[in-house]
Amino acid sequence: MEKIYIFDTTLRDGEQTPGVTLTPKEKLKIARELEKLKVDVIEAGFPASSFSDFEAIKIISREIETTTITALARALPSDIKKAGEAIKNARKGRIHTFIATSPIHMEYKLRKSPQQVLKIAVDAVKLARDYTDEVEFSPEDASRSDPSFLYEIIQAVIEAGAKVINIPDTVGYSTPDEFGGLIRKIIDKVPDINKVQISVHCHNDLGLATANSLSAVKEGARQIECTINGIGERAGNAALEEIVMAIKTRKDLFDFYTDIDTRKIYWVSHVVSHLTGIPVQPNKAIVGKNAFRHESGIHQDGVLKKTSTYEIIDPASIGLDKSELVLGKLSGRHAFKERLKQLGFQLEQDQIEKAFEAFKKLAERKREIFDEDLISLVEEQIAQIPEIFLLEYIHTVTGNKILPTATVRIRKGDKVYQEAACGDGPVDAVYRAIDRVCGLDLTLVDYSLQAVTGGKDALGEVTIKIKRGDILVSGRGSSTDIIEASAKAYLNAINRLLYRYSRKNNANNGKDKKS
Ligand code: KIV
Ligand code: ZN
Repeated sequence: MEKIYIFDTTLRDGEQTPGVTLTPKEKLKIARELEKLKVDVIEAGFPASSFSDFEAIKIISREIETTTITALARALPSDIKKAGEAIKNARKGRIHTFIATSPIHMEYKLRKSPQQVLKIAVDAVKLARDYTDEVEFSPEDASRSDPSFLYEIIQAVIEAGAKVINIPDTVGYSTPDEFGGLIRKIIDKVPDINKVQISVHCHNDLGLATANSLSAVKEGARQIECTINGIGERAGNAALEEIVMAIKTRKDLFDFYTDIDTRKIYWVSHVVSHLTGIPVQPNKAIVGKNAFRHESGIHQDGVLKKTSTYEIIDPASIGLDKSELVLGKLSGRHAFKERLKQLGFQLEQDQIEKAFEAFKKLAERKREIFDEDLISLVEEQIAQIPEIFLLEYIHTVTGNKILPTATVRIRKGDKVYQEAACGDGPVDAVYRAIDRVCGLDLTLVDYSLQAVTGGKDALGEVTIKIKRGDILVSGRGSSTDIIEASAKAYLNAINRLLYRYSRKNNANNGKDKKS
């Protein structure tokens, strides 16, 4: 098997994602993760673009020990000097220089003739070689360039000392057959091509970046340029995780390997998303939140019987614990029962049936059913949660120019308690007043309001989650008045919490007695 080199450009092309700016410290943090991931090359930035990028590359070059560090430079002496300076202290340093070769770029952007461009490229590569032996050259917009000019300039830069020739599909215009064909023709037509490594750099404007890169590999490319989560200019770059996992998963088609430690993929994806502020779309291949989640009953049933029915990748191989069965309205009995078992419930068949019915009803109204919802639901079936606190009366005063206040009257057994409180809004005021009555130190973890019926008099259902110590419970309440629904949900959660505590105490007492 031959190795495919992974050139990560998250810190350069990835940072060109609109709205993303990384500080040198953040770049170093990502570079360290990329080193642990075992990428072969880190393109750390474009030193001529800003002083901060120049500094970041210098720091990364100094700190990173095993990975090649490269800096991007236009084919201009001033850029190349800066790149040379920036990578000076790298254990393995590379300069990546580029100039556009397509007619549209040469005519409108550069305003240069092909022969002028060729000379600039050759001079740039020669100058870059004064700083390092590892020089990579990219004919920008290669996929829209005249192929014969492309062959000519590639041969010329090889003679000038380039060691890696990178073929970019700069605007994501190519298709897999066409792009693979271009690589094949370059290999056929450039006399000294066997002296260098061929690299590809695909953008995702037509959603083909991964497919184009893989097609190029089949035709002879041995380095792929890509980014974590596929971030980059416009629609982004080829995604590292997709390339690496495609090669690993389809060994039957790709007689290649990469050095990537795939178990770190999920974590690095998270770090990059967090530091760049670019969320990963839920259905993103490999690293999306839903990539290993199953909701439909048929799929869940299949996965429970044999995971490979609907999973082509072992989630552990990218660093995830396991796949997840999401309980929602499409889920079936099999997954429902399995989840209850995992949560420690041992129910009789008729209890399961009742709970399943209640679950289906709830799932019609709630998009995703979490463990806390399931626990509440089952508790309702197998136990009568005692209504320790009962709402008797609620009054709120609110408006945009006054401090929201609430008064609540709550019954506990045969005693009635009344309290008032102010808050950030009427619901907050109600919750503070209830806290005063109940005397519990609670954290509101989640609050959601949904209209259960339509129209102006819609019934609102409030679902909340509260936490005390290590116990998390959910509560629900409904009313045509959303403040009342909120109060009911809060008291419902408190009653459940107290029920849970009483069960826990009983269990502990039982243990004490035994010991
Ligand atoms: O997309 C592109 O052409 C580039 C080059 C600088 C390689 O990013
Ligand atoms: Zn690019």
